[in-house]
Amino acid sequence: MMKVLGISGSPRLGGNSDLLLESALKGAKEAGAEVEKIRICELNISPCTECHGCDETGECIQEDDMQMLYPKPMEADRLFLASPIFFMGISAQLKAMIDRCQCIWVRKYKLNQTIGKGREHRKGFFMSVGGSKNPEKFVGAVKVVRSFFATLDITYEKELLVTGVDDKGAIKNHPSALKEALKIGGDMVSE
Ligand SMILES: Cc1cc2nc3c(=O)[nH]c(=O)nc-3n(C[C@H](O)[C@H](O)[C@H](O)COP(=O)(O)O)c2cc1C
Repeated sequence: MMKVLGISGSPRLGGNSDLLLESALKGAKEAGAEVEKIRICELNISPCTECHGCDETGECIQEDDMQMLYPKPMEADRLFLASPIFFMGISAQLKAMIDRCQCIWVRKYKLNQTIGKGREHRKGFFMSVGGSKNPEKFVGAVKVVRSFFATLDITYEKELLVTGVDDKGAIKNHPSALKEALKIGGDMVSE
């Protein structure tokens, strides 16, 4: 059975990107996948301190919830990532998680290790929501997520970027976003 890991980067439970992720995971589940959702804000994840403690081993030396999280994207066939736009980028909480994957970057590019060995088919889906109508706000976020997926050897397969949605739950009034997330979620595990 295909495994899907959903990571919600919003601090707002039941917020717009969180609802998009829920819908995408529902689509994946209905298509027969096993799904797991993690809310970054419920975890204790410190930022990278650039200590270079991972240089020799590719293992982060900080002891917090990242230690539990590290194997999960490697064991999942699909990674669904959701974030609100905060000041033209992803949430700080999600950025901290991504920066802590510097040790995986070290494994790949300094220690020449294969990432996700035997699981080269892994694919990612990024969804994001911003309050303004300007689509420029997604440029930085997409670059960060593309770089993150590339480091983990996950193909950046799909994105769903929704503008003009601000108040908590306002995405429910959007004409198509939740349906699109549901469909992409299903497609991601049917391909
Ligand atoms: C700290 C902060 C910064 C924000 N910065 C932007 C921004 O740069 N561009 C934008 O379009 N919306 C911005 N917003 C609005 C959120 O992206 C919007 O409310 C979104 O729906 C929140 O998604 P969520 O409910 O998943 O957390 C910001 C909101 C907050 C709280």
